[in-house]
Amino acid sequence: MLHIVKYPHPVLRFASRPVERIDEDLKAVVREMFSLMYEARGVGLAANQVGLPFRFFILNVTADPEQKDQELVFINPEIVKRHSWDDDEEGCLSFPGLYSKVRRPKKVKVRAYNLAGEEVEFESDDLFGRAMQHEADHLDGKLFIDYLGPLARHGIKGNLRTFESEFREAQKAGTYPDDAEIVKRLKEMPAPSLAAIASPAAADA
Ligand code: NI
Repeated sequence: MLHIVKYPHPVLRFASRPVERIDEDLKAVVREMFSLMYEARGVGLAANQVGLPFRFFILNVTADPEQKDQELVFINPEIVKRHSWDDDEEGCLSFPGLYSKVRRPKKVKVRAYNLAGEEVEFESDDLFGRAMQHEADHLDGKLFIDYLGPLARHGIKGNLRTFESEFREAQKAGTYPDDAEIVKRLKEMPAPSLAAIASPAAADA
């Protein structure tokens, strides 16, 4: 059983490793990630947001579980083209309730592999393009709050403090090990025998 981890869980700052093969384990993880994403009413979710330090993310810009044809999986994605700039509001499932204006390239082209192992390419200058960038950033341990200027940063200080204290409480309660132990386990985690290792219960055992 996977779950969405929140800031400041160290996996959100961890540079993920490439996916080396697409197998049934990976497909099962992807299915579970879509369920979690819909439950949280999100449009995208990166693997490290469910505790798995591997380079893939999922998207459905409609956020509608009925629209299965809008479901996309990006494995080992790369942004191959960026063009002009745009500011828009962003949120993140690892920062529930927090939204902020983020400046990003407006138009991007992304190359990746899909679940069938085929190379795919997507180009977009709207929400879809922004979402691909946001999720690709996650795989490098980069978060949308990193783009904020000093004033916006100041404005969200209280929110970050709340996330921070909730996470430290969860560690004290034994839901998560301490940061050093989490990082150690992330480094050792084999791909992609994923699900068993990533759940908090297993991490606890
Ligand atoms: Ni996010």
